[in-house]
Amino acid sequence: MALLEVEMSLYEAILARRSVRSYKTQQLEKGIISSLLEAAIRAPTAMHGEPWGFVIIEDKQLLRSLSDQAKPMLLRMMHHHQHQQAFKLFELPGNQNFNIFYNAGTLILICGDTKIYSSEADCWLAAENLILAACAMGLGSCIIGCALPILNLAETKIKLGIPQDFTVVAPIVIGYPDDTPMPTSRKHPRILSSIPIGEVNYSH
Ligand SMILES: Cc1cc2nc3c(=O)[nH]c(=O)nc-3n(C[C@H](O)[C@H](O)[C@H](O)COP(=O)(O)O)c2cc1C
Repeated sequence: MALLEVEMSLYEAILARRSVRSYKTQQLEKGIISSLLEAAIRAPTAMHGEPWGFVIIEDKQLLRSLSDQAKPMLLRMMHHHQHQQAFKLFELPGNQNFNIFYNAGTLILICGDTKIYSSEADCWLAAENLILAACAMGLGSCIIGCALPILNLAETKIKLGIPQDFTVVAPIVIGYPDDTPMPTSRKHPRILSSIPIGEVNYSH
């Protein structure tokens, strides 16, 4: 297995992981993607369904073209559903230079077989495994949910070799980070109840 030096414990990787939105131009070495997929498929899977299928895109021109097609769709969706708030985090898709894949050299699509029970949940668990493994290997990643409308169009699926009974669940860009976002804070876990009462005391 082509693992880079792993210097983080799993717990450290969980705490350190951030979405990376700036990448170096260097492509991933051969073998890294296999290691990431190996981590992904170790995820729990309901009734051992293993519903996932993967598409690996390392063609920057194709990524740029998908991004360009996605942006007008996103603008329409934002307009119709008042989703502006969600896109505050990202650069506006209206900006010509904005690439929804942040110019990363690799996009991995985790696709779920819709005929298999619990396909979507399993794919998300695989996604988290993949992302944490990437973090532990010194790689950056970001889930690109806003690519889903374009990726799940029938014509795009044909172009990308995705069978029609598979859905793209988790598009994830991966690359060498050109930016190291600091760990963020999170709201404290909202403990709705703890039984026996008072047994769990969150203390961070
Ligand atoms: C389902 C899902 C979809 C997401 N879609 C996008 C996206 O389209 N573009 C983007 O830049 N980040 C996207 N993200 C990343 C979130 O914005 C990010 O996880 C959140 O702001 C928390 O920051 P962190 O990942 O650095 O902790 C997505 C995350 C999830 C879980």
